[in-house]
Amino acid sequence: MAKSASKPVIELTDLKKRFGIGDAEHYALDGVDLTVNKGEFIAIMGPSGCGKTTLLNIIGLLDRPTDGEYLLDGESVEDLRGGQASRIRAGRIGFIFQSFNLIERLNVLENVALPLTYSGLPHMKRIQRASDVLKSFHLQEREYYMPWQLSGGQTQRVAIARALVNNPSIILADEPTGNLDSKSSHIIMEELSEIHKRGNTILMVTHNPNLTTYATRVITMLDGKIDTDTAEPREAALKVSTKRPLGKSAKTKKKPSKRKGKKS
Ligand SMILES: Nc1ncnc2c1ncn2[C@@H]1O[C@H](COP(=O)(O)OP(=O)(O)OP(=O)(O)O)[C@@H](O)[C@H]1O
Ligand SMILES: [Mg+2]
Repeated sequence: MAKSASKPVIELTDLKKRFGIGDAEHYALDGVDLTVNKGEFIAIMGPSGCGKTTLLNIIGLLDRPTDGEYLLDGESVEDLRGGQASRIRAGRIGFIFQSFNLIERLNVLENVALPLTYSGLPHMKRIQRASDVLKSFHLQEREYYMPWQLSGGQTQRVAIARALVNNPSIILADEPTGNLDSKSSHIIMEELSEIHKRGNTILMVTHNPNLTTYATRVITMLDGKIDTDTAEPREAALKVSTKRPLGKSAKTKKKPSKRKGKKS
């Protein structure tokens, strides 16, 4: 469907997550307010330990907040029991993890078909659907490979295929390109971009300011709180990357090179 009047798919109010007790008590999330509308592509940035993964885990129903409210598609998730949460996750949310998280004893096809376990589809239909998705990622020749036989880029593409097999409306990606070379990163980002264009909502954690150009909105976090929130990805990216002054990167210190007039 084309742009329906933007209705929040995710609404967080004063969300908190505490880990540890006593002296070890620590708020990984310390009062997060966030409204995400359908079709947004949000990049989440911020220093290590600021709470990005914790936030995605709670949004993805893998963890529960200590305090605050979380509405998913307008409904509170507070009272969901484990089984209900799994069902919602399987039906609506696709998770791409920081580490690839494929199941080592299952082949590629079985890994991708896994989220369809709750779909009610018969086994053959699930395998067929998984195979179709792998084909769209040009991985059909790897269907019967085991995870350890894949390259890093292929593994992450399988993980993305798995996240998409059940047609989720929300994709949560935790540094989907963190372990990849720039060429594989580019392929992954193009794929996420394509998924976004199809009307899906994406929340992606990244440490790479360049990747925020794919997003429609950039959020930075600091100490468990949202620090900045902007709909102009480029500007936000520049703010985050100010540690290396623009135009005065290490490159300017290099001796004049004798490179042939190559486009860079
Ligand atoms: N299960 C846990 N038990 C105790 N503390 C935790 C747990 N999970 C996370 N934390 C703490 O919560 C804080 C936020 O962690 P989180 O993983 O969300 O950070 P992050 O922003 O994703 O960092 P990175 O960029 O390194 O992945 C950290 O201080 C971390 O040590
Ligand atoms: Mg993290």
